Amino acid sequence: MKNGEIIDNIRLKNDYHIVRFFAPEICRQARAGQFVHVRIDHRGDRILRRPFSIHNVESDGALSVVYKVVGAGTATLAELGPGTVCDLLGPLGVGFSDVPADVTPVLVAGGYGAAATFLLTRQMTQRGIFLFGARSSADVILTDVYHRAGYDVRIATNDGSEGKKGFVTGLVEQLLAEWSGGKLFFYGCGPHPMLMALARQLHSAGMPGELSIDHLMCCGVGACFACVVKIKADTPEGWKYARACTDGPVFNLDTVYVE
Ligand SMILES: Cc1cc2nc3c(=O)[nH]c(=O)nc-3n(C[C@H](O)[C@H](O)[C@H](O)COP(=O)(O)OP(=O)(O)OC[C@H]3O[C@@H](n4cnc5c(N)ncnc54)[C@H](O)[C@@H]3O)c2cc1C
Ligand code: FES
Repeated sequence: MKNGEIIDNIRLKNDYHIVRFFAPEICRQARAGQFVHVRIDHRGDRILRRPFSIHNVESDGALSVVYKVVGAGTATLAELGPGTVCDLLGPLGVGFSDVPADVTPVLVAGGYGAAATFLLTRQMTQRGIFLFGARSSADVILTDVYHRAGYDVRIATNDGSEGKKGFVTGLVEQLLAEWSGGKLFFYGCGPHPMLMALARQLHSAGMPGELSIDHLMCCGVGACFACVVKIKADTPEGWKYARACTDGPVFNLDTVYVE
C-alpha cells in the first residue's frame, strides 16, 4: 500500500479527467499496461478500490491516470483536489512487452483505452501508428499527446463527427490493406466488444499482438476471482479461466479466446 498525494486533478474534456499523484516508488517500477488500484474515500464513505491504467510517469515522481466519470467512484475522484492523499496499490498486473526495434508498433485504442497505451510510446524508440476509436468527437481524447510523441494518428468515430465514420477496426482493415512497410505488432486496449472484434480480425490476418482486457475487478491482487476472463487452453472446451488482475490485464493475442 502506498500513499499518493494528488498534485493536480483537472478536466481534460467533457467527462474525462487527468489526475496526477505523487507516487515516486510506483513510477520507478511502472510499465505500460499496468494499473493502480485506488481507494477513493470521501466524506467518511469508503468506496471499494477502483482500477485505473497508469497513463504516464514522470521523473519527479508524478504518476498520471486519465479517467472517465461513469459512477460513484470516478465522480468522487473528480471532486478531490490537490493535497488529498489517496491510497494506491501498484503497479499491478502484467503490462505490455517491448517489441524488437525493427517492428512498427500499432496502438489500437477505444475510449479511455488511449490512456493505457501511452507509456508504450516512451518505452520504445521506434515511432508507430495510433488508431483511435470513439463514439463521437466528445470522446476523442489524448490524440495530441500521441501526435507529439511522433505517432501517425488516425481517428474513427461511430457517428463520423471526427475522423473516419465507423469503428476502429475499420482503420485496422485499411492499414492492413495498404501497409507495405515491414513487420507490424499490435497493442490494443478498449471496451470488451471492440477488443473481441480486434482479436478476431488480427487472428484471421495472422498478426501478432497483445491486448489489455480490462474486466470489472475487486481485490486487484489475485485473491477473489472476480475478474476472470477466458483464455485459450488445451482443455476439452478449448479455454480456461485466467485472472485479469494478475495473469493480465495484458494477454498475448495468441491466448485471447473469442467466443
Ligand atoms: C485494469 C483496468 C484498467 C482501467 N483503466 C481505466 C482508465 O485508465 N480510465 C478509466 O476511466 N477507467 C479505467 N478502468 C475502468 C474503471 O476502473 C471503472 O470505470 C471504474 O472502476 C468505475 O468506477 P465507478 O465507481 O465510477 O463506477 P461504478 O458505479 O462502479 O460503475 C459505473 C458503470 O461503469 C461500468 N464499469 C465499471 N468498471 C468497468 C470496467 N472495468 N469496464 C467496463 N465497464 C465498467 C459498470 O458496469 C457500470 O455500468 C479500468 C479498469 C480496469 C479493470
Ligand atoms: S480482482 Fe480479485 S482476483 Fe482479480
